[in-house]
Amino acid sequence: MSYSEKIPQFPKPYWREIELPSFPKLQENISVDVAIVGAGITGITAAYLLSKEGLKVAIIEAGDVLNGTTGHTTAKITAQHGLIYDELINHFGEEKAKLYYESHNSAIHFIKDTSREKGIDCDFGIEDACIYAVSEQYANKINTEWEAYQKLGIDGEVTYRIPFDISIQNALIMKNQARFHPLKFLKGLLNEALQSGCTVYGNSTAMDVDDNDTQPKVITRDGYTVTCRKLIVASHFPYCDKLGFYFAKMYSDRSYAIGIKTNKKYPGGMYISVDSPTRSIRETPINGESLIIIGGENHKTGQGIDTMKHFQELERFTEEVFGISEYLYRWSAQDMVTLDKVPYIGPMTKEKENILVATGYKKWGMTTGIMAAHLLTDYVLERDNSYKELYSPSRFTADPSLRSLITANADVAKHLLKGKLEFVPKDPGDLKNDEGSVVMHNGKRAGAYRDENGKLYLVDTSCTHLGCETEWNHAEKTWDCPCHGSRYSITGEVMDGPAVMPLTNLSEEVN
Ligand code: FES
Repeated sequence: MSYSEKIPQFPKPYWREIELPSFPKLQENISVDVAIVGAGITGITAAYLLSKEGLKVAIIEAGDVLNGTTGHTTAKITAQHGLIYDELINHFGEEKAKLYYESHNSAIHFIKDTSREKGIDCDFGIEDACIYAVSEQYANKINTEWEAYQKLGIDGEVTYRIPFDISIQNALIMKNQARFHPLKFLKGLLNEALQSGCTVYGNSTAMDVDDNDTQPKVITRDGYTVTCRKLIVASHFPYCDKLGFYFAKMYSDRSYAIGIKTNKKYPGGMYISVDSPTRSIRETPINGESLIIIGGENHKTGQGIDTMKHFQELERFTEEVFGISEYLYRWSAQDMVTLDKVPYIGPMTKEKENILVATGYKKWGMTTGIMAAHLLTDYVLERDNSYKELYSPSRFTADPSLRSLITANADVAKHLLKGKLEFVPKDPGDLKNDEGSVVMHNGKRAGAYRDENGKLYLVDTSCTHLGCETEWNHAEKTWDCPCHGSRYSITGEVMDGPAVMPLTNLSEEVN
């Protein structure tokens, strides 16, 4: 396969260029007030807030800190989550739509105030956020969204020009939003949490939860336990899904980003298109210069055909808008989307008040993660919070949820069947170096990847969650499940849930 040579061969997000601490594995049974599974934006912010309150907190992370979705974001801090406010008013009413806006806006203030108070240098800057339409159909939707802004008192305006060579119909600005370097900020917050007594365990995969007692027990892959008064599940997809069947209430979506340098001066602001395919543009400082981050090309996980094509489409757009550019970074992210597009934050089920969850951020994890950490802190401390009802995972807003549920699960059934019936003509011996594909091995469907040095990796492609067939993702060199978004490495290790068990590794049978 030949791809544009301008795009970096290996994926790496710009944010992960900074040095981050590493932490030891959990190798004993421990007992704490609050156990947090997942060291991303939600887990670290919650750990900071709770340890500041004097609680004994432990974070259990399956890999390295800040290496999941938080490390693969475009890091816009905004309450402008696409076209959402008109929809929120229709489904939830004006009062709840206003609460949604307020809750995300308060996250911007938290990042601004905390970085200043604690002296965390995180490239924070106030910017307007702008959503633009290139088609007439979406121009009408922008106008409707503007009416929603006015009803809710959101500071914004409609404009007919943006400072790029893109022909638009109209655009809607939300004033005084922000951007930052998320990992610089969260590294600072993590240091503060550690100073307040929080402990962190890396490479410690939470596999199960024993919820029979009043005190939940997290059980790790190595068999150690963390007993706690409250458990916060902030693992992107809830790792202990047997409690809430979240896999049937969300779908996973992948998107792509590249970081470029160009001679064109960046005009300021953060932009996103409302038409499909999505295009997102923002800038961040890099060693006194400017790195422009272009994102977009989203699709459901495991359904993106040749995933490198998405980077090529971003490259094409970049050259149209910014001309000659130097491509420094490329990365992709996975996000969970709930049925009614509002995240699930609160008790995992009505019966399990001691197990709290935060998931379904729909690509807007920077404000949502910060807001969720505050909300979960109030659950732990049994304090009132006016956002509890809006984000409750047990809410049921019949109409849109039900329709989406039927569509999402019909899609899963289609993929379950398709994978099983598929005829696979390829044999592992047909693969060139750096090529991956579904193949036939001993009369069964398998997944093969041959690396740059000719070494062959072979896995059973049946997803360990509910048995759908995973597909090859060449851009990330992973096996992705089209049903609920589990992802696995070339050796079968779980990279994204709901799956917790690895794919069967068949490499020994061919090497
Ligand atoms: Fe559910 Fe694969 S993630 S079957």
